[in-house]
Amino acid sequence: MTPATSLFTPVEADLRLLADNLKQLVGNRHPILFAAAEHLFGAGGKRIRPAIVLLISRATMLEQDITPRHRRLAEITEMIHTASLVHDDVVDESDVRRGVPTVHSLFGNRIAILAGDFLFAQSSWYLANLDNLEVVKLLSEVIMDLATGEIQQGLNRFDGGISIETYLQKSYYKTASLIANSSKAAGLLSEVSRETVEHLYSYGRHFGIAFQIVDDILDFTSTTDTLGKPVGSDLKSGNLTAPVLFALAEKPSLEVLIDREFAQDGDLEQALALIQDSQGIHQARELAAHHAKLAIEHLAVLPPSECHQALINIAEYTLSRLY
Ligand code: IPE
Ligand code: IPE
Ligand code: MG
Ligand code: MG
Repeated sequence: MTPATSLFTPVEADLRLLADNLKQLVGNRHPILFAAAEHLFGAGGKRIRPAIVLLISRATMLEQDITPRHRRLAEITEMIHTASLVHDDVVDESDVRRGVPTVHSLFGNRIAILAGDFLFAQSSWYLANLDNLEVVKLLSEVIMDLATGEIQQGLNRFDGGISIETYLQKSYYKTASLIANSSKAAGLLSEVSRETVEHLYSYGRHFGIAFQIVDDILDFTSTTDTLGKPVGSDLKSGNLTAPVLFALAEKPSLEVLIDREFAQDGDLEQALALIQDSQGIHQARELAAHHAKLAIEHLAVLPPSECHQALINIAEYTLSRLY
């Protein structure tokens, strides 16, 4: 059991069903795409996004069971996320994901791009079949946001002048938008009040930002074995995340190294040492903690329940991944 799974106890049975369904949903019309998708769905993803959708669904349906639409929304959310990872790994040239070789390293870039497209298309189709126009609009915007985030990140490579605000905006597009909008959509399917729906969106938005900041810190502090994906690659590839942006304010010589894209021997090691020697990682932790706290505050709108508590615990767990 990964540390994340015990947090999901109230929706454990739902997540088992989801795991089976995800493979079914991809279908086997295209054997190679099916193999690629099955490979990723079968690997060790944390399933944090569908868990949140299911927990919000249950926390807003205390008197009744959740509907097949809630379940389908959770599946669509994980499918969109997985599609984005398949493409992200091509862009980042990453060889490992979820503890197994990435789709592009096994099947080649062509298949990986097609498999990602296929998953996006498939998720749009299931989304349309939910027959809820507002939910369709929310999740289609997410797919646009994911692309916007990747493009922004690509354009800002090695730009030491970007602000924390720009970084947070990119993190919203790449990560928080999916969690925010799927949280909101779960509330819409439960027909909660407008006010509650907006709080659920804000929970997802702040949680997603905290989650991305933590992921960015772990790229400096964790190991490939623990994360199941390569570490230390953000800085090398010019993706300047919160720890670096904070460190830059303190260590001006870092900017010189970034400007020349670590072209000289020892540049990258020197940059890493400067970051470790700064308050950058600590300040990034504080920023993540701030957003996790805001996320939890927005949950106050939900009545007390086991699922409500689990949503709080997940936000807290995200921060504890740092230690
Ligand atoms: C990875 O997400 C991408 C980020 C937004 C940081 P996860 O860390 O949730 O990846 P899986 O689904 O568990 O593999
Ligand atoms: C999140 O960002 C990826 C997407 C949302 C597509 P990262 O690039 O940090 O994700 P990892 O670190 O590769 O999982
Ligand atoms: Mg990546
Ligand atoms: Mg990352």
